[in-house]
Amino acid sequence: MEGRDVVAINQPLLPHRFSLLRLRNHRETARAIRTMVVRGAGTIGATAAYGLAQAYSEGVDIDRAYRTLLETRPTAADLKHALDRVRRRATSVKEALAEAEAIADEYVERAKQIAKIGLPLITSGTRVLTHCNAGWLALVDWGSAPAPIYLAHRRGRKVFVWVDETRPRNQGANLTSWEFLQEGVPHKIIADNAGGFYMKRGEVDLCIVGADRIAANGDVANKIGTYQKAVVARENGIPFYVAAPSSTIDLTCRSGDDIPIEERDEDEVHFVSGVTTGSKLARVRVTPRRAAAGNPAFDVTPARYITGIITERGIVEPGQIRRRFGK
Ligand code: MRU
Repeated sequence: MEGRDVVAINQPLLPHRFSLLRLRNHRETARAIRTMVVRGAGTIGATAAYGLAQAYSEGVDIDRAYRTLLETRPTAADLKHALDRVRRRATSVKEALAEAEAIADEYVERAKQIAKIGLPLITSGTRVLTHCNAGWLALVDWGSAPAPIYLAHRRGRKVFVWVDETRPRNQGANLTSWEFLQEGVPHKIIADNAGGFYMKRGEVDLCIVGADRIAANGDVANKIGTYQKAVVARENGIPFYVAAPSSTIDLTCRSGDDIPIEERDEDEVHFVSGVTTGSKLARVRVTPRRAAAGNPAFDVTPARYITGIITERGIVEPGQIRRRFGK
């Protein structure tokens, strides 16, 4: 936060442009979350917390601002978790800001723990498949799914990553690949349809994905397409891990059936964005003009397909979530 402004990376411009956006009040912050200028479970939570701190400084009705921010993204559990913390603990601008900062710092600390706890899963030569972007951009810093990969790479282990492109918004192709290039992690972007091919050929040793909400029975909501990868991983005997901080666990959802799944604008399917050969940003339609499209942003992977959930408190079997994280 700078003064009263939340300063965020404008993620839809990546990997072609790096630019920062100043969000001047809680409404602008809410819009940035809704339009996915700011995205990724933990980053959404931290940004919303700062957004609520802005509301305190604007002197507006806090309950209303809370609702405005909460309604931006229905699936991400971290959004409510962060907003509830600020509203419960803060009675002043100063306290709200301090709580938002504590939340952002906690994401970084928890992600570092996830990196350490997940590290033994990766030895030299391990080929990992990941879906979507659960890296620095999605979790303030380090990330969840890529955190053990980053640490393994920094420790000199030869790790290779298959990066799903993640249609419709291409967060794998645009964001995860960009992060891996910054870190020097060897990887290849693959079409979403190619994962099963490489798994069957014996070229994937391990899958690690992030999470947007984890139900009490260990079912996991994550970016659309995750479920298919988990089923194919099981078919091929490949361990399938989910990495997430405990703030992503929502014990009020008994199973994945209780997790609300966000349905986004169909234009995300109709259009793709990129740069032209002349380096101009462009958005082009790839579907027939009058075609209709469905666009669920997430799916639920049943607990039985998940080998373990890597949290800051250890690797937990999905069936043990309630016991380990219940009060
Ligand atoms: O819709 P997004 O981009 O906000 O979705 C979040 C994701 O990128 C993923 O589902 C991710 O694996 C979890 S974020 C730590």
